[in-house]
Amino acid sequence: MNHPTASLASLPIPRGPRKGTRHFLRDDDLSPADQARVLDLAADLKRAPYDAKPLAGPRTVAMIFDKQTLRTQASFAAGIAELGGHPMLVDGALAGIGVRESVDDVARVLGRQASVIVWRTFEQSRLEAMAEHSGVPVVNALTDEFHPCQLLADLLTIREQKGELAGLTVAFLGDGACNMGNSWLLAGATAGLHVRISSPEGYAPGAAMVDAAAAIAAGTGGSAVLEADPHAAVAGADVVVTDTWISMGKEDEAAPRAQVFGPYSVSAALFAEAKPDAIAMHCLPAYRGKEIDAEVIDGPRSVVWDEAENRRHAQKAVLTWLLEEEDRG
Ligand code: NVA
Repeated sequence: MNHPTASLASLPIPRGPRKGTRHFLRDDDLSPADQARVLDLAADLKRAPYDAKPLAGPRTVAMIFDKQTLRTQASFAAGIAELGGHPMLVDGALAGIGVRESVDDVARVLGRQASVIVWRTFEQSRLEAMAEHSGVPVVNALTDEFHPCQLLADLLTIREQKGELAGLTVAFLGDGACNMGNSWLLAGATAGLHVRISSPEGYAPGAAMVDAAAAIAAGTGGSAVLEADPHAAVAGADVVVTDTWISMGKEDEAAPRAQVFGPYSVSAALFAEAKPDAIAMHCLPAYRGKEIDAEVIDGPRSVVWDEAENRRHAQKAVLTWLLEEEDRG
């Protein structure tokens, strides 16, 4: 493809032979070095939001949503505009991807219109099929399995607060089997964090995910463990994280979940068992009085609004990282 590349010249990106189309489908698509570089770039873009224009043209980024969204749509649309591009919203229900026509055919069509495809959908396999057939980079804007853009924003936020990532301890309380639990395992291990996942019985991440994270952590000095006791999980933690107990698509399970998740609520008392300077995180939307107390999420050590803002900076960095490979030509 013949894309304008001159505006990339101002970015600190080393040039070399092109390796192929990059995608960001799950957290471990970024190696530890890639992740560190994307986070550095995100910090640079936060300092100077209008200086880099890798989407100048404007080149189009397709954003497709099969599930509800606020932060993801807003932060991608704003970030794409800041990069000089055009955000094209594709209504997942109207498109009927996989119903009206196959994922493969949608990928082939959108790949002829857009330079990047950003998709929020259900099964990870749908995203993989999109990446296989689009011919352009594909970004996971949340699936049932992963939420990697959120994790980059969260890591950027922790780094801003603590000055570093490697060696810090993060306790994730709640549905460890959901996208956020899996993404904390993989992205946290990649960053060299000590990740503790604390969930009720039946809601822990799968063994394969924990093993994958532990294998990454072996190379970064981090760790990835399950700790069923929420008090043991938060003891000495630098960061306490939670998420809704009922992810999108799980609404039918609200009643049984409400029965077992109570002890994993980030109450003010439980948060006080973490380090005195621990920060509280939540990807939002939040349900005060359920997975987190209002006193915590609205308190002085909550960083949730920084997380929400940092979605834009982190995603701009991901788009830049994806495009640098496309634009090698
Ligand atoms: N686990 C949540 C994350 C929302 C951003 C969900 O999938 O609904």
